[in-house]
Amino acid sequence: MSTAAVVTAAGSGSRLGADVPKALFPLAGRALVAWAVLRVADACDEIVVTAPATHVADIEVALAAVPELAGRPMLVIPGGAERQQSVAVAIEALFAADRTPPDIVLVHDAARAFQDPHVTHAAIAAVRAGADGAIPVLEVVDTLVEAAGATGELGATVDRDGLRAVQTPQVFRAEALRAAHRDHSTAQATDDAQLVRASGCRVVAVDGHESGFKVTRPSDLPLAEHYANELRATELLASELSVEEKP
Ligand code: C5P
Repeated sequence: MSTAAVVTAAGSGSRLGADVPKALFPLAGRALVAWAVLRVADACDEIVVTAPATHVADIEVALAAVPELAGRPMLVIPGGAERQQSVAVAIEALFAADRTPPDIVLVHDAARAFQDPHVTHAAIAAVRAGADGAIPVLEVVDTLVEAAGATGELGATVDRDGLRAVQTPQVFRAEALRAAHRDHSTAQATDDAQLVRASGCRVVAVDGHESGFKVTRPSDLPLAEHYANELRATELLASELSVEEKP
């Protein structure tokens, strides 16, 4: 079964407060989007990246700078105004008339650049085993309460035991994902599973991982740097070992 990845990287990242779009933010010498693509690349046959319309070429350059991604089928396209539209544009690119569409599509936020690849493989396995979709989830650690916001009034405390926080990559049968985006194009969904489930499809949960946190605010950057530096150290070790093994 062929698998494609849609990596959404077209957001401005205004909450990060950087002077470049979030996808281009440098971490251990590599753009955030490059880390995100690297973490899912081994799980898929082709990759479509959505970029801010003003920065398509910059994102192409950032991806081309990663030797491990050389030769991989990859397309960078301008995203839409909202994340949902970016995903819809990317799906239509995968289903263009002049190409063979994939069987499975995973949708991954570039902002979750360090997600553990085991999570991606588990979600793909669930779809291969027959689910229409699979999404990584994590236990909620905070107490949750209903609150309207500005008024300061509180409603009920919500039992967190039955709730989970949702991550990406979210993996779907390609046809189910495409139909859901077409059928619910006017909905305003914060993830793709909502749309696929609204179409009556069966989406299951797999275990997420803390490394799949979303880089959102400046306070997330030290943790992102930590993961980037750890991965760099692992790469260095692997390349040193491969040199030693050569006769
Ligand atoms: O804004 P939010 O944090 O929900 O964005 C999640 C992901 O969707 C980010 O990786 C962002 O780059 C991407 N995005 C996109 N197109 C948009 C808005 C966000 O690809 N118009």
